[in-house]
Amino acid sequence: MTSTLLDNIGLLVTNDAERGPLTAERRNAAVVVEGGVISWVGDAGAAPTAEERIDAEGRCVIPGFVDSHSHLVFAGDRADEFEHRMAGGVYAAGGIRRSVAATRGASDDELLSNAERLVAEMRAQGTTTVEIKGGYGLTVADEVRSLLVAARLTTETTYFGAHVVPPEFADDPAGYVELVTGDMLDACAPYARWIDVFCEAGAFDEDQARAVLTAGLAHGLGARMHAGQLAPSGGVQLAVELGAASVDHCTFLSEADVDALAAGNTIATLLPGVEFSTRQPYPDARRLIAAGATVAIATDCNPGSSYTSSMPFCIAVAVRDLGMSPAEALWSATAGGARALWRDDVGVVAVGKRADLVMLDAPSYVHLAYRPGVPQVKKVFAA
Ligand code: NIG
Ligand code: FE
Repeated sequence: MTSTLLDNIGLLVTNDAERGPLTAERRNAAVVVEGGVISWVGDAGAAPTAEERIDAEGRCVIPGFVDSHSHLVFAGDRADEFEHRMAGGVYAAGGIRRSVAATRGASDDELLSNAERLVAEMRAQGTTTVEIKGGYGLTVADEVRSLLVAARLTTETTYFGAHVVPPEFADDPAGYVELVTGDMLDACAPYARWIDVFCEAGAFDEDQARAVLTAGLAHGLGARMHAGQLAPSGGVQLAVELGAASVDHCTFLSEADVDALAAGNTIATLLPGVEFSTRQPYPDARRLIAAGATVAIATDCNPGSSYTSSMPFCIAVAVRDLGMSPAEALWSATAGGARALWRDDVGVVAVGKRADLVMLDAPSYVHLAYRPGVPQVKKVFAA
C-alpha cells in the first residue's frame, strides 16, 4: 500500500469539529494518506515517514468539495433561454421539456460523454464527490439509461422521474404520477440511491410529491426534494416530515419552513448558481443558520437554471449574496454536502476518512470568494 505525506500545509481545513457550520482549521499541518485513506493528521515536520512526500509549500488544503445536487445526464444546450432571461425574461419550469426532447434523441454514448465532460470540469475545480440525477428522460427506458450513465460516474445516483410531467401526459398528470410511482420506479430503483421530486407550480403539487417520495422510501431509496425555488411551497415541511436527507433551493421560505428545518434533520441545500442564472432573489443563508438549520451549498449543474460546474463560483456567490462567511460557505460546500448525502467518510479531514483533498494555490480558503473567477485549485487528490 503506497503511503504519501502531504507536508508543509500552511492552513489545513479539517471540518472535524463536533458541529458545523464553521470549519475547524490547523496551521502548519501535515497529512499522511495510505491506500486512499487518511492515516495521520498533525503538525508539519512531525509526521511519520512515508514512501512519497509532497510539499504544499505553505498553501491552504481543504477537503474535496461535495456537490450534492447536479443534473448531468442531458443533451443539448439552452443558452438562448439564459440570454432571454438576462434581457428581462422569467425562468419557468417548462424549459425542462426542451432538454427532455434533446435527451430522448441522444445516444447512450452521447449522454455519457457529456456527463463525463462535466464531471471532469467539476474535478478540475476541486469536486471529489458528486450526486447526479436523471430527470431529462421521463420514460421508463430513458430514466433507466440516465441512471446507468450516472452510475458510471458516481455512487450518489438519484431517480428523478418526477422532474416535470412530460408532454405526452399533459392531459393526464395523475397517470404520470402512477407511472413514476409504479413501473418506472420498479425499473429505476435498482440503479438509484435516492429519489427526488420537484414540488413547485408547473411541476408537482404536495399530494403528488408525497406519493412520489413515499413510494421511493418503500423501495428503500432515500428521499430528496426540490422546493421553494419559484415561490413558497408546502414541500419544505413535507420534506422534513418524510425525513428527506435534503430539501434543495429553499429560496422562498416561510417562518414555519425555517422552524421546521431548524427542528428537523433535513439539510437545507442552497443553489446560488440558480439565482445567478435566473436573476431571482438569492436565498437567505443567514436566516437559516441563525435559526439553527444546517445549510449545504451545491451547483445544481444543469442546462436550464444553473449551468455551472464550479463549487468555487458557488462559494463566492454564497459569501457575496447569501450572507455567509467564507468559513460557513466552505463548510457548507464540503461537510454540509456530505450531510446532505448522509455521508460521513467525505467532507472531513480526519484519520479513517477518504483522502479527498484539494490544494489551493492560495494561503487561505478566503481567497475562493476574495478572488472570484480565478482558477485557484492547484492539485486535487481523490482517495
Ligand atoms: O434544479 N428545478 C428543477 N430542476 C432544475 C432545473 C432544470 C432545468 O431548468 O432544466 C433545477 O433548477
Ligand atoms: Fe436541481
